[in-house]
Amino acid sequence: MGHYTPEKVSLVVCLVGLPARGKTFIGRKIARYLTWLGYNTRVFNIGDYRRQRLGSHHRHDFFDPSNPEGARARNEVAQAALMDLAEWMRSGGEVAIYDATNTTRARRHHVLEFCKARNLEVLFIESICEDPTIIEANVRETKLSSPDYANVEPDEAVRDFRARIDHYARAYEPIHEEGYSYIKLIDVGRILVAHLIDGYLPGRIVFFLMNLHIVRRPIWLTRHGESKLNTEGRIGGDAGLSPLGDQYAQKLSEFMREHAIRPPRVWCSTLQRTLQTCRYLPMPPVQWSALNEIDAGVCDGMTYDEIQAQMPDEFSARQTDKLHYRYPRGESYEDVIVRLEPVIIEAERQREPVLIVAHQAVLRALYAYFMDKDPDSCVRMEIPLHTVLELTPGPYAFEEKRYHLM
Ligand code: F6P
Repeated sequence: MGHYTPEKVSLVVCLVGLPARGKTFIGRKIARYLTWLGYNTRVFNIGDYRRQRLGSHHRHDFFDPSNPEGARARNEVAQAALMDLAEWMRSGGEVAIYDATNTTRARRHHVLEFCKARNLEVLFIESICEDPTIIEANVRETKLSSPDYANVEPDEAVRDFRARIDHYARAYEPIHEEGYSYIKLIDVGRILVAHLIDGYLPGRIVFFLMNLHIVRRPIWLTRHGESKLNTEGRIGGDAGLSPLGDQYAQKLSEFMREHAIRPPRVWCSTLQRTLQTCRYLPMPPVQWSALNEIDAGVCDGMTYDEIQAQMPDEFSARQTDKLHYRYPRGESYEDVIVRLEPVIIEAERQREPVLIVAHQAVLRALYAYFMDKDPDSCVRMEIPLHTVLELTPGPYAFEEKRYHLM
């Protein structure tokens, strides 16, 4: 495993809250973040279990707590998901996210006892939001496209979903249990309560949640323009741009003028080639050493052919496991991910658009985070020179568009 937590991790993150309070958004964000950091993480979404087992035709009265048949069916589904979760943890899972409403004390007690009996630690995360505009936007954006409302006219679907929320609201008991470890997020992070938080991972999750918001803005990723070492096929180094690379710097500035509705934050590395790529932009870049290219150690400045000829074992070790392979006196992709964590937290915190001008390996690692990909699947991904990747946030995930500027 890639992460650096010394002890065995067995954490169940149990979401709590009325429908349309962003539980799935929060759960998926945490899953993406922890997967990227190397934790074996999985979301168990009870809505999906219900649809798979019982179909997606249920209207609001199914969710009425005074409907005994509905209550029994929902309990069975919740229990089936919990059993799968426990089995998955037993077979090597590290963090399970239990995405259900869990709005009553009795249900939370059951989840806690169930997990305790299996030596699983439980962290509850409750999302509370009373702002009708946010709730309405959430319902329209995420629920109308749910299979629950396929072929239902939008206004009718919204009415039905509101009635569903009302059923849950009648039985809702916000979390106050003494002795439970929980985080309460109120009004999308305006207030955050951390109760009995203990340990490295729960602490990271609190910090991550403190930086989340729901303001949508694009993130652009690009490599620097062609450098003098790129023209020779040499890796690493700190060369300036070639004439072609300089042309790209100009194109990038035109691109941003046309595409950025608001002036973006610009971040680059401390190496000449990214700084020079930003030289025609109207805003000065912030330089992060965390964005510097993977350190190729003793191979810095060599071509791949030279590495293969002079250090064949190193070359083939890297081919075999590119994510974990560390250059002698240099870095692995995994090392790069660890040093990029503050960049990710800052990118999450920023409410303005962000343009990141960096390097191939670094962008692969950032791409894996934003696009929710297993980092191992990204270490060979093509990120060509002179191309901008535009990532636009949707309700749960980013969408990608590529612009080849030259
Ligand atoms: O070749 C350009 C470059 O940015 C090198 O500086 C760096 O070592 C390399 O790409 C990273 O790509 P890979 O991990 O595929 O070798």
